[in-house]
Amino acid sequence: MKLRRVLLALVLAVAGLTVLGGPSAAAPRHRVTYDKYSLMVDGQRLLLQSAEFHYFRLPSPGLWRDILEKEKAAGFNAISVYFSWAFHSPAPGEYDFTGVRDVDRLLRTAEEVGLYVVARPGPYINAETSGGGFPAWLKTVPGRARSSDAGYTAAYHEWLAHINPILARHQVTRGGSVLLYNVENEYAVNTDPAYMQDLQDTARADGIDVPITTNNCCDAESWSSTWGSGPGAVQIPGVDDYPQSFECQDAGTTWGPWGAGVTEKVRDDAPVFAAEYQAGAIDLNNAGYEACRKLTGVSYTKFFQKGNMVLSGATAFSYYMGFGGTNWGWLGQPNDVYTSYDYGAAITEARQLTAKYAEYKRQGYFLRAVPPLTKTDTSAAPAVAGLETAARTNPDTGTQFLLLRNAATTETTSTLDWNGHTFPVTLPGHDAKVLVSNLDLGGQRLVASTSELYTTAQPGDRDVAILYGADGTPGATVLRYASPPKIKVLTGTVSASYAGGELRLDYTHHGLARVLISGAGHRPLLLMLGTDDTAASFWNVDGVLVRGTSLVRSASQVHGTVALRADTAKAGPVEVFANARKLTVNGMPVPTRTGRSSSLEGTLPGPRGVELPALAGWKQRAEAPEARPAFDDSRWTVADKTTSLSTFAPITQPVLFSDEYGYHAGSVWYRGRFTGTGAETTVKLNAITGKRGDYLVWLNGRYLGSAAGGVQADSDAPVNPDPGPGEFAVPAGLVQPGRTAVLSVLVQNMGNNDDWTAEDSRFRQPRGLVGASVPGVAEISWKIQGQARVDPVRGGLNNGGLYGERSGWSLPGYDDRSWPRAGLSVGAGVTWLRTGFPVDLPKNQDTSVALRFDGEIPSGYRVLIYLNGWNLGQYGAAIGPQTDFVLPAGPLRQHGRNTLALAVIAERPSTVTTPRLIVAGSQRGGA
Ligand code: GAL
Repeated sequence: MKLRRVLLALVLAVAGLTVLGGPSAAAPRHRVTYDKYSLMVDGQRLLLQSAEFHYFRLPSPGLWRDILEKEKAAGFNAISVYFSWAFHSPAPGEYDFTGVRDVDRLLRTAEEVGLYVVARPGPYINAETSGGGFPAWLKTVPGRARSSDAGYTAAYHEWLAHINPILARHQVTRGGSVLLYNVENEYAVNTDPAYMQDLQDTARADGIDVPITTNNCCDAESWSSTWGSGPGAVQIPGVDDYPQSFECQDAGTTWGPWGAGVTEKVRDDAPVFAAEYQAGAIDLNNAGYEACRKLTGVSYTKFFQKGNMVLSGATAFSYYMGFGGTNWGWLGQPNDVYTSYDYGAAITEARQLTAKYAEYKRQGYFLRAVPPLTKTDTSAAPAVAGLETAARTNPDTGTQFLLLRNAATTETTSTLDWNGHTFPVTLPGHDAKVLVSNLDLGGQRLVASTSELYTTAQPGDRDVAILYGADGTPGATVLRYASPPKIKVLTGTVSASYAGGELRLDYTHHGLARVLISGAGHRPLLLMLGTDDTAASFWNVDGVLVRGTSLVRSASQVHGTVALRADTAKAGPVEVFANARKLTVNGMPVPTRTGRSSSLEGTLPGPRGVELPALAGWKQRAEAPEARPAFDDSRWTVADKTTSLSTFAPITQPVLFSDEYGYHAGSVWYRGRFTGTGAETTVKLNAITGKRGDYLVWLNGRYLGSAAGGVQADSDAPVNPDPGPGEFAVPAGLVQPGRTAVLSVLVQNMGNNDDWTAEDSRFRQPRGLVGASVPGVAEISWKIQGQARVDPVRGGLNNGGLYGERSGWSLPGYDDRSWPRAGLSVGAGVTWLRTGFPVDLPKNQDTSVALRFDGEIPSGYRVLIYLNGWNLGQYGAAIGPQTDFVLPAGPLRQHGRNTLALAVIAERPSTVTTPRLIVAGSQRGGA
C-alpha cells in the first residue's frame, strides 16, 4: 500500500503537478495555532466566519469569483468547501483537475479575494451528492466503504494522493488560503477509529500542517480526545447544527424542533466550531426553495445564530450553504434533491442577494467590529422581564456581550438594568439582539448601547459608527467623555444628556439619524443610528463605507481617489465615506459633491435593459433505434456476470446492475434476446433507478409501456429497496415461435444513494435492471450500453447512454440540418428537440439568465436540458417542482450563438411545455 502511494506521489511530482498552481513563492507564510478560545493566525485571534460553497455545483470557474466576492462583501472571511471525489474521477485511476474541475484556480481565487478555506476532501462528503461523493465505480471495489478495509483504503488513498498535494500547496502556512483541513463527514455510525486516524496520518504525510477538524453530528463528542483516548481524535472537533430541520413546507410554523441549536464545547483545548450551521435546507417535500429560504430566514438567523454566538461562545462557524448552486448532470443524490441545489441560501442559485444576505451582513459586520469576542467567558447577565438573557465577557478588555432574546411570537417591552444604567427595551417576536458594553470604538469608548453595533470605519481624521435596532423601537447609547462634547444632530431626532463623564443619547430607531460628536479631546465621531434596513444599506468593504449600490466588491484609496468595484441594480444616489475627494466606480469617474456628513455624494447609473430572444425554430428527431430488433448491438457489452458486491440479491440471473459493466451515470440501455415460443403473455421486469426515475420497455420494436423505478424504500431497510416492479402484456402474435425476440429496456439511473450511516448497503444499492423474465422462456441473453465515453470538458457525470447522447446530439457542433422543423409534440420513447438562439448581453453588466417552463408541470415525460452540450437539469412532474433552470455564463455563451437540445423521455405521447429565456437578475458591474 505504502509503496503504491509513494509511486503515485513520485509520478505526480515528475509530472510537475506538485509545484504548479500554488501561491507565488513570494506570498507571505503564516502560522496557524489555536487555544480554547479561538483560532490564531500569526498569534492574532481570528473569528472564523465561513460560508459553504461547492465549486462543482457552479460549472463556470469564471463565476466562482463572483460568489466569493459576494461572501466577502457580507463580512465572511472564509469559505468551506467539499472536494468531490466523484466529480474528479470517472474511473479507477482516472483523475481530472482541469476546466470546471480546476481546484487550483478555485483556491487561487479565494487567495486573491482574501478568503480562508476550510478544505473538506472527504473522502466521504454526503452533501446530497450521488454516492455522497463516492465515485460510482467504488461500488465495484471490495471492502466496506468508510472503514479501514483494504480495498476501500487503496481506493481512497488514490483520491487523497491527488487532492492532498493541491490542498497542501495552498495552505496558509505556505502563503495560501487553506486554514483548516476537515477529514470525513459526520462519521458517527459504524465508526472505525483506525480509518479516522489513517485519514489524518495520510494528510500529514502529504504535507497538511494546518489544524485538522471534522464535522460531527448526532453525538457532539465523537472524535474529540474527551470521547475516547484511542486513535481518530481530531484537533478541533466541529459540530453540525440544523435547528430548523428540512420540512420547508412548514416554514412559518416550525421553530427549532431539534432544540436550541447550541454548539457544545467538545474539547477543552480547542475553540467551539459550528462546522455546519444551518443556513438553508434541502427541499425534502418539494415545497420549493423559497419555502426553505423562509424556514431559515431572517428571524431564524437572528434568533438562533445570535443565541449560538453568546450561549456557546463559538468563534468559528460555517453556514451551510452560503450559495447552493446546481446539481447539473448526474451530480445529485436522488432521494433528497432535484436539479436545483439553491438550498434557500442567502445567495440564490441565480447568484442574487436576498433579505437573508442582509441579515448575514448585519451579523458579519458586527463580528468584524468586535475583536474582543474572540476571547470570552460566560458571565452573569442581568435579568430582563419577558426576555431570555445570557452574557459573555472578554477577561482582558472587560467588553461584555449581552444576548437578549424573545422566544414569544409577539413583541415584548421591558426594562434593562445594565452596568448602572436603566434602558427601555422593545424586542419584536422571535427576535434577538447582542448588545455590547465597554468597547473601544476607534477613538471612542462605548459604555453601553441598546442598539446593535453594525460597523465602524475611520475615514480620514474621524470615526464613523453605525448602530441599529428594529424600526420604531427605543434605543439608547452611552459613550465616555471626560468633558461634555459638542453634539450636532444632522438628521433625525436624538436627545443628548451629559453627566458623570458619560454622554447618553436617546432616540427611536427610525430611518437613519446622524449625530456628529466632537471636541472633548477625541477624534470626531459620526454616529449613524438606523434600522435593520437602513443599516444594511451600507457596505463596509476594505474600510470604505458605501451606501446606494447593490454590492461593493472591493475598494482602494490611492492619492485622494477612492476606486470602487461595485454593482448597481438600479440608477440612484451613492454616498461614500473614505479618505478621498474623488470617486471612480468600475473604472469610471463619478462626479461628486461633499454632503453634510462630509461624505462624497454622487449618482450612479443602473443596468441596461436586456432583450432575450424567443426560442423558436425547433427541430425534432425521434431516436431509440435500440428498440428495433435489427439494431446492431455487436459492440455493446455482454452482460453475463453472476455475482456482485451489492448486498441486494438479483431477482434473476445474470446480474444486470449497470455499475458492474462500467456504466455509472444517466440512462442505460439493455437488449435481451430469447427464442420465442409464441405463447408469451407477459414480460416481468424490475429496475432500480433511485427516486424520481422510470424505465421504458419495447419488445420486437413495439413499445410496451413504462414503470416507476425502484427506490430505497426505507432508510432502515436499505438492503430491501423497492425493486421497481413492472409487468408488461405481450400483444398476441408479437413473438413468433422459434424466432429470436428482442427485448429493449431503457432505464434511468438517477444517481446513487448516499452512505450517511456508513453501512455500505445503501450506497452499493444497484442501479439498472435487477430482475427480468418472460414466463415460459428459459433464458434471455443480455447486452448493455451506457455512456459511450467521458466528455473531456464536461466530465464523467454529464452524459448518460441515450442514443442521442452517444451520437453527439446534445453538442453545439452537431449538424442537425437534416432534421425536420417540428413542434414540441412527441411520441412515446425518446425524442430530441433542438434549437439555436443568439445572445448578446450588455457588457460591464452581470445578467443572470434562466430557462423557464411556465405553468403546471405536466406528467408523463421528463426532459434533459442540454445547453451547448452541458446537461443543466431535468424537468418533469416526477422529478420535482422546479420550473426555472439557471443557465450560467460559461455554458451560456453571453455573446454568441447557443444551442439548446432537449432530450424528451416520454412514457406516452406528449406535448412538451414551450420553454422561454428569462432574466433572473441584472446588475451593472459584475465580478
Ligand atoms: C449534513 C451533511 C451535509 C449535508 C447536510 C444537509 O448532515 O454533513 O453534507 O448533507 O447535512 O444538507
